Amino acid sequence: MCGIVGYIGSNEKKSILLSGLKELEYRGYDSAGISVLKEGELSVFKAVGKLSHLENKCKDFESCGFGVAIGHTRWATHGKPTEINAHPHMAEFSNVVHNGIIENYQELKKELGERGCRFVSQTDTEVIVHLFEECLKELFDPFEAFKATLKRLKGAYAILLITKKSPDRIYYAKNGSPLIIGKGSDGVYFASSDAPLIGYAHSVCYLQDGDLGYMDEKSFDQLPLIRPLSVNKLYAQKEGYRYFMEKEIYEQHKVLVETMMGRVGGAEVHFEEIEAGFLEGIEEITICACGTSYHAGLAGSYLLERHAKLKTNVAIASEFRYKEPIMRPSELFVVISQSGETADTLEALKQAKRAGLKTLAICNMDNSSIVREAHCSILTRAGIEKGVASTKAFATQVMVLWMLSLHIAKIRHTLLKEEIEGQIHSMVESAKLTRVDERLHERLKKLSKRYLHGHGFFFIGRDIFYPLALEGALKLKEISYLHAEGYPSGEMKHGPIALADSELFTVALMPKNLLYDKIKSNVEELAARDATICAITPEPFEGADDLVFTAARESYMEEFFEMMVVLQILALEISVRLGNDVDMPRNLAKSVTVE
Ligand code: F6R
Repeated sequence: MCGIVGYIGSNEKKSILLSGLKELEYRGYDSAGISVLKEGELSVFKAVGKLSHLENKCKDFESCGFGVAIGHTRWATHGKPTEINAHPHMAEFSNVVHNGIIENYQELKKELGERGCRFVSQTDTEVIVHLFEECLKELFDPFEAFKATLKRLKGAYAILLITKKSPDRIYYAKNGSPLIIGKGSDGVYFASSDAPLIGYAHSVCYLQDGDLGYMDEKSFDQLPLIRPLSVNKLYAQKEGYRYFMEKEIYEQHKVLVETMMGRVGGAEVHFEEIEAGFLEGIEEITICACGTSYHAGLAGSYLLERHAKLKTNVAIASEFRYKEPIMRPSELFVVISQSGETADTLEALKQAKRAGLKTLAICNMDNSSIVREAHCSILTRAGIEKGVASTKAFATQVMVLWMLSLHIAKIRHTLLKEEIEGQIHSMVESAKLTRVDERLHERLKKLSKRYLHGHGFFFIGRDIFYPLALEGALKLKEISYLHAEGYPSGEMKHGPIALADSELFTVALMPKNLLYDKIKSNVEELAARDATICAITPEPFEGADDLVFTAARESYMEEFFEMMVVLQILALEISVRLGNDVDMPRNLAKSVTVE
């Protein structure tokens, strides 16, 4: 959610900033801007929409020679996505970019307005730069003014500020939103995540909440905890696919093998990451996450209870934080996050740590704030996920939770050796079944044209297929903008069935190996009320208007992973037919770093 980059050095600044922003664009893409301070001159460019608009705008601008520069890609929080609201924000002689939310900006804006500051945007960010210049009038020293500014700000932020009053420095601060400083042979770099730094920086410092200061060309080495930047993360490219989301769906069978690698073998699942004794005394699990990661957590809860016989609660992080939750020391607190930066999940994790709970993060991004905060982390190894609609991250999260249920089952002796072996066999098969069959894709492509209108979709399933139904509905609404809800199929007659008619589309998950007859009755009830049914099932089923046949499988988890792919492709193809931007759907951002 919003991305920040910065550079101090003599190289062409515009291209460094634009290439960094390109890496971060998926985080927010309402508007973007850059600002370069060189030879006493501040040059600012901003554009609404995709980064290519900004590239066009500054195509004739040259920025070689020593200077400092900052850039931003925005996901609007305060104020519409207009050029004026795009960052960097300006006062008389300083510019700022900011990721986060300044909660007391109204109060500050009023105060600064009374002192004569002229605001042009509707953003919270603009107060920072005006406040800085006002503080400077009294304190004369830019760093003192920057510190005084930060003292007045309430909320979450990562901030970069440049000013003509000290033209060789970038002032920075981090509180709640991620910010990294990197050093390369040609200068100092800033970014909200590792990706923009790859290829430029060799060492990095992950700033902690409360960190603030300034950088010039020489001060990097004084930072604490400098680490090498791992360069083995390849830039994610589309590799011939139409969309990142499509590519990420197609690579699920490979990344699931990565997820299992070195952790699954013979009759055992073993996580080296979990130290012996870490799970001792655990009597209950609480999983906390947002969005798709929450759905994975919900799916995992069925497996943890079933296999490890541990009571498992699942909470939406934004709700958990403020409900004054009761936490017991015998609870293991598990957070799930693709990005590792989701503000609500991170805060819930901190809260659980403060309450003395053991914490475990299931995360895709090494070195992310969540990984750094948790006592123990299991990386999902999905690789960079660029599509805003999460696919392979979900698949790997469910796989890790499945593996965790077996790891704990072994420790607690709740499954027999043969049962664990059977589960592992099923795990390996499940990974294979996510390989996309081109004929299935073609079938879904054709089918998608029948599902472009109507007054809504129900996705229904039972047991662990209920969280999958929630995920199917979320995928569809995110990228098609059609209304879709996931429901436990047994819940339909408690209210939602009132909506049933031929313009209500129901996508029914009907696995053969789990409660087939029960869900069949629920779907028949809907068909009897004229709802249009698309059934995903290995069984012939007369009540359906459309059937997507899956093959007969040995276990319901194999069916789970196979149906997951069907739902992802169906959402993708509906979105394509509707002409939407699959990888960057409106109003969304990949990493939600504000609450
Ligand atoms: C949906 C999606 C979001 C994220 C949610 C949590 O496709 O990607 O719902 O799952 O914003 O993000 P992470 O997993 O990064 O904490």
